[in-house]
Amino acid sequence: MRLRSPGRRLRSSAAFGALGVVLLALAGISALEVRSPRNRTYRPPDDDIWIPSDAASIARGKHLVEAVAVCTICHGENLGGKLAFEDAFLGRGYTANLTSGRGGVGRTYSNADWVRSIRYGVRPDGRGIIFMPSDYFNRISDADLGAIIAYLRSLPPVDNGRTAVEINLPARLLIDLGVFGDVVRAARIDFHASRPAPPSDPGAYLVALGGCTFCHGPHLTGGQGPEPGAPGGPDLTSSGPVSKWSFADFVATMRFGQTPGGHAIEPKYMPWLGYRNMTDDELRSIWRYLRSLPGAAAAEPTSAVGLTR
Ligand code: HEC
Ligand code: HEC
Repeated sequence: MRLRSPGRRLRSSAAFGALGVVLLALAGISALEVRSPRNRTYRPPDDDIWIPSDAASIARGKHLVEAVAVCTICHGENLGGKLAFEDAFLGRGYTANLTSGRGGVGRTYSNADWVRSIRYGVRPDGRGIIFMPSDYFNRISDADLGAIIAYLRSLPPVDNGRTAVEINLPARLLIDLGVFGDVVRAARIDFHASRPAPPSDPGAYLVALGGCTFCHGPHLTGGQGPEPGAPGGPDLTSSGPVSKWSFADFVATMRFGQTPGGHAIEPKYMPWLGYRNMTDDELRSIWRYLRSLPGAAAAEPTSAVGLTR
């Protein structure tokens, strides 16, 4: 008895210790969840955007949605929402249904709701939208944002109510700890600063809306992949292999996902299935802009391209 009691005490204190660790962990988790960028409330400015209703503006909106901002890559061809990612660790990501069908935000959204969600990544209830690159859409001109909203409002209704991003607890913790960076992009936008003017160079503007810097780096000299394990976007400037290409090579890559070296680009990593619908003029503007960039050695001190955020 006497011999065993210290062991029992040890066992019970070990049990209490374990309980303490669990309680501390739970307290830590809830503190994290409360402070998480996922659960914070954001107050974006109320931009006054005029929403056109003419056929030309709606067509312009459709083009931006499908070919430049590539909303369709994540929200599905009919914009009714889709399973955008599925991962054993991360969970499942169903994107929002943008139409006015059952389960669609188009049923209830006001024009102001559209502006806040697209340009600032903030939902009508003030929560931040996760995984959507609104910090890039932040630079859309008022006219183009109006055209996009006009097009979204004209969409035929799609019934789809499964639209939640379902992230597993361990992945949620890592997100809340900031391990995956700013996945709630509203957290990256300074709502008090005046919005950066849309870039005046048409190529720079398309690169901003297209979110090329998201994967090709802030100076387009190479960056991270869209998800852990994915290849990073290569250098697109004068210091990268693309500088040796002709314009025709660039067009073939953007339209058919085939580099001059014969490499087939995986659409999952580089959304060319959207960009392939850009016009010749748009691709030419982007090409000219890429050719004008200084490249890796010069990129760091200048930030002249104005894409750093
Ligand atoms: C990289 C993928 C991606 C792209 C590109 C993208 N979205 Fe999203 N979007 C998402 C995800 C994921 C959600 C749901 C996030 C959540 O539930 O927090 C979402 C949510 C939304 C919402 C919020 C709906 C709500 O719950 O209130 C709107 C509106 C929206 N997107 C519109 C657009 C438009 C318009 C474009 C193009 C200009 C676009 N998205 C491009 C991934 C994307
Ligand atoms: C979601 C991430 C992502 C976005 C956004 C993205 N890219 Fe890419 N891009 C990649 C990846 C990854 C590769 C390399 C793919 C491979 O090698 O299979 C790539 C390859 C390329 C290539 C071929 C480069 C080479 O050396 O072979 C070009 C050109 C290119 N991207 C241009 C663009 C342009 C222009 C934009 C914006 C309109 C853009 N990309 C947006 C991820 C992206």
